[in-house]
Amino acid sequence: HFHAIIPAGGSGTRLWPLSRKASPKFLHDVLGTGRSLLQSTWDRVAPLVGDDNVWVVTGESHLDQVAEQLPELCPSRIVAEPSPKDSAAAIGLATLLIAKTDPEAIVGSFSADHSITNVDEFRSVIEQACAAAETGDIVTVGIMPRNPATAYGYIKTGSLLGLPGAPTARRALAFAEKPAASTARRYVDSGRYRWNAGMFIAKASAFLEILRTEDPTLFEGLSQIAEAWDTESRDAVLAEVWPGLEKRAIDYVVAEPAAEAGRVIVIPGDFGWDDVGDFDSVVRLRQPVPGEPRGVISIGGSCDLLEVDASGVVFSEQPRTVAIVGLEDLVVVDTEDVLLIISRSHAQDVKKAVSLAGERG
Ligand code: GDD
Ligand code: MG
Repeated sequence: HFHAIIPAGGSGTRLWPLSRKASPKFLHDVLGTGRSLLQSTWDRVAPLVGDDNVWVVTGESHLDQVAEQLPELCPSRIVAEPSPKDSAAAIGLATLLIAKTDPEAIVGSFSADHSITNVDEFRSVIEQACAAAETGDIVTVGIMPRNPATAYGYIKTGSLLGLPGAPTARRALAFAEKPAASTARRYVDSGRYRWNAGMFIAKASAFLEILRTEDPTLFEGLSQIAEAWDTESRDAVLAEVWPGLEKRAIDYVVAEPAAEAGRVIVIPGDFGWDDVGDFDSVVRLRQPVPGEPRGVISIGGSCDLLEVDASGVVFSEQPRTVAIVGLEDLVVVDTEDVLLIISRSHAQDVKKAVSLAGERG
């Protein structure tokens, strides 16, 4: 009864020019592991739910690449969107499609572009989350915050619930999506908040009930599409309904209102989670063990790298020599049409370069 939904959208502009609108970060082997972020997500979740129960929701234009990267993924489990409508529409539609054939299903949604180093611990947390979802509540995973980041949702943790099969499950007292910097600082200092790991596990019926109550218009539109999905009218209904759907994130549509109603559970998850949001996290994730010489890490493997007193990361899609001398914490991305050179401490500012370049993501 357990299904995994992998929403794979967004363009990840903070990893530009590696991540582009036509080729977003989840399709790339950003960490040099030999698997793209999407493939690594598959590797983590498919053993939990079984290959046939994995669903990927992605843009029509990424369909071929997704199918090529995931040959084990059942073609009928790829849900193609005509245009990006954010995570509530993506996860909502997949949940409706799952509920059509398996009304008792438990669904778990897992971002396509995260990194997790301790996969065994991740699986044990998700097993607990599944057990906790039997209550009919929405189950989230909470990461111990490393800093007052404003790019994440925060979950205020309450007391232990003592649920069977989920010994570490706690009540979530509140959910705050992407707070302002001062609020985030207060949350972290209080020691009572965790980052939302972008995972939601719930009974399909419970999830859909909240979606229907909180956003009846979105629910109605998605239901029409789900209804027509396996019929000849799928394309016509999609063409008619999809463009009018509101772009909203699942966090606002489901997590925040559910927490207000006292219906969110949080399982603490400390399994080396990172959302690979920018080049700073890429360097951190790729840095050798403390004490070892730092040096320059080469990802992509196309270039001949020469380094003298330098550290950082080079992503190369070009067959040429790259020489770096006397620079610390450098990030170089060498693609066919764009060469990015940026210091790690300015990782957040890639967006400024993207807007100067006039690229829409
Ligand atoms: N199919 C599809 N279509 N997927 C989408 C779309 C879309 O239009 N928009 C977003 N997604 C997918 C992303 O690919 C990702 O897997 C997931 O939905 C979350 O969307 P993001 O856009 O990456 O959200 P975020 O990073 O700003 O915030 C979320 O994740 C944080 C952790 O990384 C929130 O859940 C935060 O609360 C959380 O802390
Ligand atoms: Mg994200």
